[in-house]
Amino acid sequence: MRRCVVVGSGAREHALAWALAKSSMVTVTPGNPGIAAQGITCVATPSTELDADLFVIGPDQQVVDGLADRLRAQGKTVVGPGADGARLEGSKAYLKEFLASANVPTAAYGVFDDESAALAFLASMTPPYVIKTDGLAAGKGVLVTSDLEEASNDVREKLSGRAFGGAGATVVIEEGLDGPECSLMVLCDGVNVTALAPSQDFKRLGDGDAGANTGGMGAYAPMSSLTTEQLDDILERIVAPTVRELLRRDIDYRGVLYAGIMLTSKGPKILEYNVRFGDPETQVLVPLYGDGLYDLLLRVGEGRLEGSPPVAIGAAVTVILASHGYPFAPRKGDVIKGLGDDGQLARGVEGVTIFHAGTAIDADGHFVTSGGRALAVTGVGQTLSEARRRAYEGAALITFEGRVMRSDIALSVA
Ligand code: AMP
Ligand code: GLY
Repeated sequence: MRRCVVVGSGAREHALAWALAKSSMVTVTPGNPGIAAQGITCVATPSTELDADLFVIGPDQQVVDGLADRLRAQGKTVVGPGADGARLEGSKAYLKEFLASANVPTAAYGVFDDESAALAFLASMTPPYVIKTDGLAAGKGVLVTSDLEEASNDVREKLSGRAFGGAGATVVIEEGLDGPECSLMVLCDGVNVTALAPSQDFKRLGDGDAGANTGGMGAYAPMSSLTTEQLDDILERIVAPTVRELLRRDIDYRGVLYAGIMLTSKGPKILEYNVRFGDPETQVLVPLYGDGLYDLLLRVGEGRLEGSPPVAIGAAVTVILASHGYPFAPRKGDVIKGLGDDGQLARGVEGVTIFHAGTAIDADGHFVTSGGRALAVTGVGQTLSEARRRAYEGAALITFEGRVMRSDIALSVA
């Protein structure tokens, strides 16, 4: 049987491993206790010391750090761009320069490392103000606010280099855009692209999009409100010129190109590119492709994506269960009830899979919380309504003290 290595330790990697294990032997490095409980091998050995037919890199930091280059130098087949392609996510300033030269629609912007120039530019903009840290900031580098003072303070803080370990010593200030957002993950084999089903994630902590920005409190796919025309527009005006520009820059991009898009009244505009699978979008995407994920990703890594595109079947909804105090001070050690030894629902619900992110096993052998987002509960069904009903039915069976959950994931579409 073909062997596959997944790099990472979150619910995204659990979902990838679960889907890839349908048609390959999967090893996850380092993985987590929930993945291991499902019978999937987890090892502490670094991926560069493992052997397999296919390597899939989950976390942004490792892609940006050039792990794919190191693996390819060993002759391995990898899903994930090299450090050159990963700059699309690793530097917002590079991204904006790239988009401008590729003529891809995006928000107007300025890049600054000087405080007074940045503040003057900010004052010339109309609200809402958008300030982005240049480097990776674990999803916390973007401030959107209509308060000029808050925006100015954020610029000062980011330029001081105190935030995000120096990642913010350069800032991008952007025009504020408005409209629904769409996550579109496109597989790219260096030349050819194929889009996976569009999805939406829910970044705010509370119902009705209230409260703090988080790593994501839920997601659903497919995004049924996105019309074929809109999708074609995104592929034509955003994805195609991006791939042309990658080729022009001699970047052999083999991996996931995740476009964060805003559907504005003036057409789709790109907010960001991520150079890896989205979290929690992956938890709703991979169940739609049956046992075909391994072959599909192998074609990405081997540069032979041309031919029939993958077909998504059904719908999926993911609800995140986060720990007490998330996202500011997540508590560890709360005992999770409702899970069996395999980390799945003790009393199963049809179509529900649990993907672990921040869990551990305590001395008594119980699953406990050990990070902000503890679990992702994914329900699949023929329709979004069925998927949503199942996800929430599953989520209701898992309880722990201080559990944080949104109750409106996919509510408006299901
Ligand atoms: P990013 O990491 O660049 O996707 O930004 C995170 C979130 O900030 C996005 O999902 C949007 O909700 C918001 N955002 C980013 N850029 C803009 C913008 N130019 N205008 C309005 N909202 C934005
Ligand atoms: N869902 C947003 C991300 O993966 O960055």
